Amino acid sequence: MNEQLVILDFGSQYTQVIARRIRECQVYSTILRFDTPAAQIAALRPRGLILSGGPSSVYAADAPLPDPRIFDLKIPILGICFGIQIMAQYLGGKVEPGQRREYGKARLQVTDRSCPLFRSLPRTLQVWNSHGDKLSRMPAGFKSVAVTENSSYAAIELRAKRFYGLLFHPEVVHTTRGHEIIRNFVHRVCGCGRTWTMRHYITQAVEEIRAQVGRDQVILGLSGGVDSSVAAALLHKAIGEQLTCIFVNNGLLRAREPEIVQEVFGRHFKIKLRYENASKLFLKRLQGVTDPERKRKIIGKTFIEVFQAATQRAGQARFLAQGTLYPDVIESVPIGGNPAALIKSHHNVGGLPKKMKFQLVEPLKCLFKDEVRRLGLELGLPKEIVLRQPFPGPGLAVRILGAVTPSRCHLLRKADSIVVEEMKASGWYYRIWQSFAVLLPIRSVGVMGDERTYDYTVALRMVESQDGMTADWVKLPYDLLEKISNRIINEVKGVNRVCLDISSKPPATIEWE
Ligand code: XMP
Repeated sequence: MNEQLVILDFGSQYTQVIARRIRECQVYSTILRFDTPAAQIAALRPRGLILSGGPSSVYAADAPLPDPRIFDLKIPILGICFGIQIMAQYLGGKVEPGQRREYGKARLQVTDRSCPLFRSLPRTLQVWNSHGDKLSRMPAGFKSVAVTENSSYAAIELRAKRFYGLLFHPEVVHTTRGHEIIRNFVHRVCGCGRTWTMRHYITQAVEEIRAQVGRDQVILGLSGGVDSSVAAALLHKAIGEQLTCIFVNNGLLRAREPEIVQEVFGRHFKIKLRYENASKLFLKRLQGVTDPERKRKIIGKTFIEVFQAATQRAGQARFLAQGTLYPDVIESVPIGGNPAALIKSHHNVGGLPKKMKFQLVEPLKCLFKDEVRRLGLELGLPKEIVLRQPFPGPGLAVRILGAVTPSRCHLLRKADSIVVEEMKASGWYYRIWQSFAVLLPIRSVGVMGDERTYDYTVALRMVESQDGMTADWVKLPYDLLEKISNRIINEVKGVNRVCLDISSKPPATIEWE
C-alpha cells in the first residue's frame, strides 16, 4: 500500500487542489467524503489527515460533520479553514459568526517560528482567506502560532498530538509560500518520504493490471487524446499482445490525426490496432443536421454502433479498458455553495451501453491530468501526444456551425492546422488550455486581388483554463494573431475573414456548440 495522506472533503472547491499539492511533494493522497468512518480511514493506514475547507458553517443544521473518532487515530491532522472550525467544535474551542466574510489577501505574522509548519519560512507571509465564521476560543491545549489583523488564531497547534489548524488556504497560489507550508506538514509533521513518482507508479500499475486481467484479452477505445493514449501505452507495457486498441475515424478528426495515431501506436509501439474508418457513415447521418444537440446525439449513437461492431470483430475480450481519471471518480460532496459539486461534465458520458458485458480496467483512475502527462512521457510517448490540448469527442462537428459537409470539414481542418502550427511555433500552444478555429455559417464580402469575394468566416478560440469548467480568453500578441489570420485567409480557399472570440466561460462555453 502506498504511503499516503487522506483528505476529508467538506465541500471545498479547493479539495482537489490540496490533493495535487500533496502529490507535488511526491506523496500519494486520497480524497474521501467528510463522513467516512474513522475505521475505514484507519484501514488505509494514512500518515496524516487533512480536513478541507468548505462553504458551510459548523452551526448550520445540515453542516457536514466527520466521525468524531478521527481525532483518536493518533495521526497528525491539519484543519484548513472550515477544517479548523471542525477541530474547534470537537475539541472544545468556540466558533462565532464573523461580522463580515473575510475574503482575499491578508498578511500573516508568524508568532512562534518553532512551529514545524513554518520552518524555514519568513516571519511575515501573504495568505489567502475565504471564511465567514471566526474562531473565538481555541480548543483545549492548543496554542496560537500566527496571527492576522483580523484574527489572533490564524494558525494554531497542539504539537504533542500533532494537530494543526490554519484559518487561511495554504493550497491556493495566492498564499505565496503555501506549498512550503504543505510540504512541511507532509514531510516534517507526518514524516512522509518522497515515494510517489511515475516510475514507481508504472511498476505498481503493471503488476495490478496483470493480476486483474490474467491471460484474458483487453479492448481499448483509442481516441488519440492524452488519456486513452497513455492508458494504451501503460496497458501495452503490462500485457503486450493481450491488448487490442480500436481507433474509430468518424470523419470529424483533425488533419493527419489517423496517420499520427497509426504511426505512434501501430508502427512505433507495435500495439495491435484496429483502424475503423467510418467517416462516410458519420457524415451521411449528419447530412443536413444543424441542431447542436442532435449532432452530438447522432455522433454518440453512431460511435457506439461502430465500436461495438469492431469489438465483436476483434474477438473474445473480457475486459474493456478506459482512461478514466481521478477527478471523474471522486465522489463529489453536494454542499450548496461549492461550485465543484455542481459541475459534472455534461459531455464525458463515459458512454458505452451496459449490455456490452465487459469488466472495466481503469489504470489511470487514481491520477490527475498532470500526472497522466508525466506518466505518458515516462512511458516514452511523444510530446506531440502527451502535451496535446483537449479535443471534443464529437470533433469538428461542434466547431462547424450549421450543416457538416465533407468540404466544410476540409476547410476547417486546413484552418485548424494553421492555428496549431503557429501556436506551436510561437510556444503558446503548450502554455494554454485550448486554441482552435471555428467555421461560421455566414458569408461576407471581401476583395482578393481585383476580385470581389463572398466567403466564410473563421473564428479563433484561444482560452486558458485549469480544468475546462471555467475559462478566460487569452490575450495573445497581436503579431501572432495577425500571422494566423493572414495565413488562414491566404491559404484556405473559401475563407475571407477571421474574427477573435473574446468571451469567457461562463457565460459562453469553450466550444461553440
Ligand atoms: P465547453 O464547450 O462545455 O467545453 O465549455 C469544456 C471542455 O470540454 C471539451 N468538450 C468535450 N470533450 N466530449 C469531450 O470529450 C465532448 O462532447 C466535449 N464537448 C466539449 C471542450 O473541448 C473543452 O475543453
